This record gives sequence, structure tokens and C-alpha cells, in this order.
Amino acid sequence: MQSKLIKVANTIQPVLELIKQRWSARSFNKQAISQEEFHTIMEAATWAASANNEQPWMYYYAHNNTESFSKLWECLVDGNKPWTKSASVLMIACVRKTFEKTGKNNGSAEHDLGMASSQLLLQATSMNIYGHIMGGFDRIKAKELLNLDDNIVPVNMIALGYLAEADQLEEPYRTRELTGRNRKKVEEFSFEL
Ligand SMILES: Cc1cc2nc3c(=O)[nH]c(=O)nc-3n(C[C@H](O)[C@H](O)[C@H](O)COP(=O)(O)O)c2cc1C
Repeated sequence: MQSKLIKVANTIQPVLELIKQRWSARSFNKQAISQEEFHTIMEAATWAASANNEQPWMYYYAHNNTESFSKLWECLVDGNKPWTKSASVLMIACVRKTFEKTGKNNGSAEHDLGMASSQLLLQATSMNIYGHIMGGFDRIKAKELLNLDDNIVPVNMIALGYLAEADQLEEPYRTRELTGRNRKKVEEFSFEL
């Protein structure tokens, strides 16, 4: 797969292979993700650290070729619609904004969701399954679709699937799929005191 080679992080230091290999893919083939594979990916999420071990994350998901998949897909903004059609799984990731035991505000909820999603994506990568987080979706539509309580907030959507060649994508997605990744330098965001 051409994109897979292009997207590997070109690191200066000996960063973990799995971290180098994860990237936000758009070109998926329609190979299904089995329930066992999916549960493995989700179990990786559950082992993330969280404030008070609250595990405030919730993932509502659907497999492709189901009515629920279409309903989740409809929540996406137009720019995310074309390439997510062939994802194997679509999810809406949510957080509970209050601690279950005390009802108090959990200021770490979204942070902790990010931790869980990061682990989920790395686990998926290790299984040759690629994920793509999307903030571009209609949160009001999602809240209505999922019939969520007021203290449950949809934060982002995630597409998961096996890779396909970039050629199957329309522009501008094809070019994005074949463009290398870059990052800020470590010195730009870490400061010794
Ligand atoms: C919270 C969040 C929201 C994002 N929203 C979108 C989105 O709506 N559409 C999209 O194509 N990519 C989206 N991305 C993917 C980012 O553009 C991508 O992670 C970034 O460019 C770095 O690329 P990489 O993940 O391949 O390293 C999002 C990523 C995150 C973490």
C-alpha cells in the first residue's frame, strides 16, 4: 500500500514503531471488522488512565451495511462524508460530564476520552486497522439520534477500517492520502525550566 509507506512518521528519535505507523487514513476497503477484532480494539480503550478511574468515555458504533451506520454517517459534515462511506465501523465518541458517584463536574472527561481513543487507535494499528477521528459532525443531530441525557456529550466521531489504495478516493482526499505527515519540533512545545 503506497499510502502506508508515505505516512510512516519520520522521527528523529527511536519512537515506538506503532506510534510511527498510526495515521488518519481515508481510503478504506469494505472488509468487515469482526466482533472479536472490534472488542479487542475497544478493550485497549478501557485500559486507558482516567481521573478517579471514572472511564467517562462512551462509544456508540455501527458496522457498515446497517441502517445504524447510515444514521451515524448522516451526522457527518459534507467534507467527511465521501471517504467515510467505505469505513467498516463508524462511532460517535461521547463523555459523561459528571462523576457517576458524586454527580460533580468532571473537568477531565474530554481529556480522558482522548487517552482512551489514542489507545484504541494504536491497538487498531497493530491489527492493520486504521482509524480517523473527526470533529466535523453535527453534535445536535448526534445527541438526538442517540437520545443522550444532558450530561452526556458527543465529542467526536471515529471511522475505522482496513486500508485500500488511495486511487479509489476523489480529490482532494486522494492527494491528502498520499501526502507525508509533519509535526512541530519537540523544542516548539516542550520547555525546560
Ligand atoms: C479531535 C480531532 C478532530 C479531527 N477532525 C477531523 C475531521 O473532521 N476531518 C478530517 O478529515 N480529519 C480530522 N481529524 C484528523 C486530523 O486532521 C489529523 O489527526 C491530523 O492532521 C494529523 O494527522 P495524522 O492523524 O495522520 O497524524 C481530526 C483529528 C482529531 C484528533
